[in-house]
Amino acid sequence: MTQDVSLQVNNLRVHYHTQDQAVKAVDDVTFSLYAGERLGIVGESGSGKSTLALALMRLHKPPAKIEGGEVILGETDILKVNREQMRQVRWSEISFIPQGSMNSLNPVMKIKHQMSDAIKAHQQGWTQQKISDRISDLLGRVGLSNSIADMYPHELSGGMKQRVCIALAIVLEPRAIIADEPTSALDVVVQRVVIQTLNDIQQQLNAAMIIIGHDMGLMAQSVDRLAVMYAGKMVDVSPVSSFFNDPLHPYSQLLISSLPSPDEKRELTGIPGMQPSLLDLPSGCAFHPRCPIAVEKCRQQIPPLRQIEESRRTACHLVEEKLR
Ligand SMILES: Nc1ncnc2c1ncn2[C@@H]1O[C@H](COP(=O)(O)OP(=O)(O)O)[C@@H](O)[C@H]1O
Ligand SMILES: [Mg+2]
Repeated sequence: MTQDVSLQVNNLRVHYHTQDQAVKAVDDVTFSLYAGERLGIVGESGSGKSTLALALMRLHKPPAKIEGGEVILGETDILKVNREQMRQVRWSEISFIPQGSMNSLNPVMKIKHQMSDAIKAHQQGWTQQKISDRISDLLGRVGLSNSIADMYPHELSGGMKQRVCIALAIVLEPRAIIADEPTSALDVVVQRVVIQTLNDIQQQLNAAMIIIGHDMGLMAQSVDRLAVMYAGKMVDVSPVSSFFNDPLHPYSQLLISSLPSPDEKRELTGIPGMQPSLLDLPSGCAFHPRCPIAVEKCRQQIPPLRQIEESRRTACHLVEEKLR
């Protein structure tokens, strides 16, 4: 079965150019986002998730630089278009809810003014009435009452602010939406509300969505496929059911075995050892110092992300050899 691809990322590399070396925050990342699917990207803090998301929007800032690769949206490689063309694609075709966005709403502007600014930036010539109608429509879509339009951010709870940010991201009904840690800093109940809001929006717009997070339990319930990042690389990609029932990569196996039970919330903290510094990566497979089954080859050769089954890819010499 072939599925329509909404976003195709090929061999993407993003480096931070520090004083004496390049930090490979996104290192040769390749994946597809299928039309209408929800893809989760998980990984420990510092593994390159936000850098990847920003690069997909071309919103990365120096010292980050895209060193190579392709980001194909529809028919277009958006890494090749000029700034003006990118400005037209951004928010209308692909949209983004940045990490921590609920804390970056303008504190001295009412919600309706922040939303009307976002609408006016793209829809010239709309009447005030049309803009107001659109604001109540957008608030309704994220489950907020129209009365919050007249409020300031400090009058809203964290979950409400996050839903305003989701509303701001869908002003132009994008085909693809990237949400970077949309539930961090919220309590468990509110996290579920926010995830449900994202799911509703994704279905209403029939959009493809990338949800970045580090809460495996929440991810298990809210995405179709999961991709795992480790030290700048994507090391495991799998449908969520097989990911949890039969994880392939030893890192994924450890992530899952550290989960108390499928329903409990758990963050990625339970793995022995430390994630390596991107400034001083181990030789071979970056995971080998923490891997319980590593062999000599793992110390010497970087395992490529290889297709293991029709819908699964993993970057592990031993998984590959076992299945050969
Ligand atoms: N402004 C920066 N300057 C230099 N290096 C950075 C900068 N921001 C991030 N990095 C590097 O990129 C890595 C990935 O960061 P990030 O994409 O924010 O990870 P994540 O979102 O997974 O926590 C970090 O571990 C750090 O080494
Ligand atoms: Mg991040």
